[in-house]
Amino acid sequence: MLMLKSHFRVNRAGHLVCGGVDTVELCEEFGTPLYVMDEERIRENYRRFLRAFGRRRRVLLCYALKANSNSAVVRILATEGAGADVSSENELRIALGAGIPGEKMVFNGNLKTEGELRLALKHGVTINIDSFQELEVVGRLAEKTGKEARVSFRINPDVRAPTHPYIATGLRESKFGFDVKSGEALEAYRRAKGMKNVRTVGIHAHIGSQILDPSPFVEEAEKVMEVVAQVRELGIELEFVDLGGGVGIPYRPEEREVDLEELAGRVVSTVERVEREKGMHKHLLVFEPGRYLVGDAGILLARVEYTKERRDLPRWISLDAGMNALIRPALYGAYHHIELANKMNLENDTLTNVAGPLCESADFLGKERLLPRAERGDLAVIFDVGAYGLSMSNQHTAKPRPAMVMVRRGRAALVRRRETFRDLTRLDLLPPWLR
Ligand code: LLP
Repeated sequence: MLMLKSHFRVNRAGHLVCGGVDTVELCEEFGTPLYVMDEERIRENYRRFLRAFGRRRRVLLCYALKANSNSAVVRILATEGAGADVSSENELRIALGAGIPGEKMVFNGNLKTEGELRLALKHGVTINIDSFQELEVVGRLAEKTGKEARVSFRINPDVRAPTHPYIATGLRESKFGFDVKSGEALEAYRRAKGMKNVRTVGIHAHIGSQILDPSPFVEEAEKVMEVVAQVRELGIELEFVDLGGGVGIPYRPEEREVDLEELAGRVVSTVERVEREKGMHKHLLVFEPGRYLVGDAGILLARVEYTKERRDLPRWISLDAGMNALIRPALYGAYHHIELANKMNLENDTLTNVAGPLCESADFLGKERLLPRAERGDLAVIFDVGAYGLSMSNQHTAKPRPAMVMVRRGRAALVRRRETFRDLTRLDLLPPWLR
């Protein structure tokens, strides 16, 4: 058995306990595959992040809903006082529904439709603009509706973050933001200045995701603040500096947690140095953590349905959850730790490949893992799936998406029901000639 993170324990029966609830009992009650979110852990993660920065500066944490947009999850963060980073109209609606006011939201992404922008304007959401064309559209909509648009520009600071190429976004060649090197970023501020109904309130960057080393964030802060200083020379005072999300979590047993104190200390002192040197006021610091807040608060429980021996090779076990329920291993080669939730006290002595139920070779959750010898009916637990798990799941081979429960102090409640055959087919229509 591995060293479990502090919010888990194992009971006398050798079962994994999460939020004070026996995971084996959870599966009996709610079925498998099952996502489980630990409310207290989400709150702890939020408070830890807030504390590290908040005791040094005025800071706003805008939870990145893309990590997990379940209404109950968002509601928990709303009650903590979080704002929201939304990247679609529906995420915006979910955040509003959870009680987060539009004024505490930022709207991100390289493609926001006119309909989405109208909704953002209506609720006073700050729009992090990604291109000159988008600026024009926002300007036009603001003028038409007579609403003032609060805008900020996503700049591309050209920072190389040590992470998977699919989730590195701060490089010059990436599709996001305004290029700093060529002067495009400054040009955006210049243009916005002359626009009616457009108020330029901030600056935004996001260098990538799952970053465990503080240094790229320090480099980002440095580069963003250089632009802030130049923007000020144009006569524009910004309210906030938004450094995006991206703080990682340990997925592998040998990985270390990010030292938040070091991160906050170095980032804040970088920002403050530039503010001092240039005689600027103290900006509100904004972060958009997603994974850090919810990643390790979530587990996926899946049933071992079949096992198969392979001479001289690892044995295979097949779970009732695969790349449909959790696509990260297939898409990024991501590592998620796996154990047997009903055999936590047994020796991990058997080399095992962990497959999902789909007819694709990419459909695995782990390869060459050491597990206790799994049998039909055992329960596998996949850790650290609270972020980009259910939110990226799909219905390949018409499998219903898993249910999700929230656990807290020995209680469990369904927060997303399991999809049914009806859910899967209700949007399909037959053309008249086939009826
Ligand atoms: N802000 C912006 C503008 C973003 O694009 C993202 C994530 C975040 C905040 C939140 O980043 P976080 O704190 O969660 O790292 N599906 C991938 C991750 C993609 C992240 C995309 N943007 C994965 O499963 O690893």
